Amino acid sequence: MKNNSIVVTCAKGITPYLKQEIESLGLPVVAETTASVMTRGDMDVAMRLNLFLRTGHRVLLMLKEFTAQNADELYRELFDIRWEEYIPEDSYLCVTSSVDNRTINDSRYANLKCKDAVVDRMLHVCGRRPDSGPDRDRCVVYLYWKDSVCIVYLDTSGEPLSKRGYRKLPVKAPMQETLAAAVIMATGWQGGTDFVNPMCGSGTLAIEAALMAVGKAPGLLRTNFGFMHYRGYRAANWEAMRLEAEKMVRANPEVSIIASDIDPDAVDAAGKNALAAGVREDILFDVCDFAETDLPGRGGIVLLNPEYGERLGNEETLQHTYGAIGDFFKQRCKGYTGYIFTGNTALAKKVGLRPKRRIPFFNADIECRLLEYELYEGTRKAGKCESGTNTESR
Ligand SMILES: C[S@@+](CC[C@H](N)C(=O)[O-])C[C@H]1O[C@@H](n2cnc3c(N)ncnc32)[C@H](O)[C@@H]1O
Repeated sequence: MKNNSIVVTCAKGITPYLKQEIESLGLPVVAETTASVMTRGDMDVAMRLNLFLRTGHRVLLMLKEFTAQNADELYRELFDIRWEEYIPEDSYLCVTSSVDNRTINDSRYANLKCKDAVVDRMLHVCGRRPDSGPDRDRCVVYLYWKDSVCIVYLDTSGEPLSKRGYRKLPVKAPMQETLAAAVIMATGWQGGTDFVNPMCGSGTLAIEAALMAVGKAPGLLRTNFGFMHYRGYRAANWEAMRLEAEKMVRANPEVSIIASDIDPDAVDAAGKNALAAGVREDILFDVCDFAETDLPGRGGIVLLNPEYGERLGNEETLQHTYGAIGDFFKQRCKGYTGYIFTGNTALAKKVGLRPKRRIPFFNADIECRLLEYELYEGTRKAGKCESGTNTESR
């Protein structure tokens, strides 16, 4: 498994940020789709990716590519793989898949065929077979089957990497950790200026920002990954990688990371989540209306993720809230770059400012935008500016 294909999956639309991360680890990007990036390497490379990636979901190490027209052919091809070299016979196996083949109505049937092939082979060769079921906390085999093309992978992450482990108390509509990291990357913020996050909810954006500011690899927060359960797991290599990552942590960044919310329970949960992530001391929390959020006045970014009506919030109240965010930007955030992450373009118009950039994202299946507003200190000479900002009719 020296120079295998490794596919890293991600949420739809996050590929540009995942590519950036993979390349910054010195790895090649050999292909990409809207929700994955392919690189190359061995199990150690897969472990590094699990440790350092902020925007990836699963690190899949390719085992075999073959063609299968139907479930019987699938079984035969899978039975030929030397599973005994990868999966301990006393372990536990979960099969996940993405299946689009005309002979298969229910992907659970393909999963069952795949599981049968693995355990039958192991029973045949070792005289014992692993247990199997839906839990992803040990060995996970991932099957991709489109038309007659099958690719089978070892999932080296197990539980998806978006589950960092720090979110003990989620509140209303929390953002997925990996999406929050990609949104911050999209702003270009690298920890050198203040980061202000009113409407922080469970604190995901502020916590991800703090992890970036202190240089803490997200994988340091987890104790369990799929790769730990395969045969030949090199625990010493993993320990060395963790030590290397720990040495990269810089305590107490110079910048302020500020998170506030009007809901005291949300701020309480965010504080507990930050504690679990080891960045409680790096974030200043406050319970207040977003418009009252304390701004140090040194410039930086102000990033809000207001409710946008799909799951929460009453549309009329939200129209008022979005208008008030525009006023907050104009009146209190001069010298900052303002950002709003929303899935509702009609509400976004109520902000009344013209975004400089509209960066596309998806939150689950909802098409979202990260809107960027340049909030000038003074009136710009050229362009249609008022109070130092580009305005737009509400
Ligand atoms: C969509 S949630 C934010 C989720 C957050 N990004 C996370 O990952 O948990 C919106 C948050 O805005 C807060 N909020 C709503 N109106 C507010 C206001 N006027 N001032 C401050 N916070 C407000 C809500 O309490 C809620 O926690």
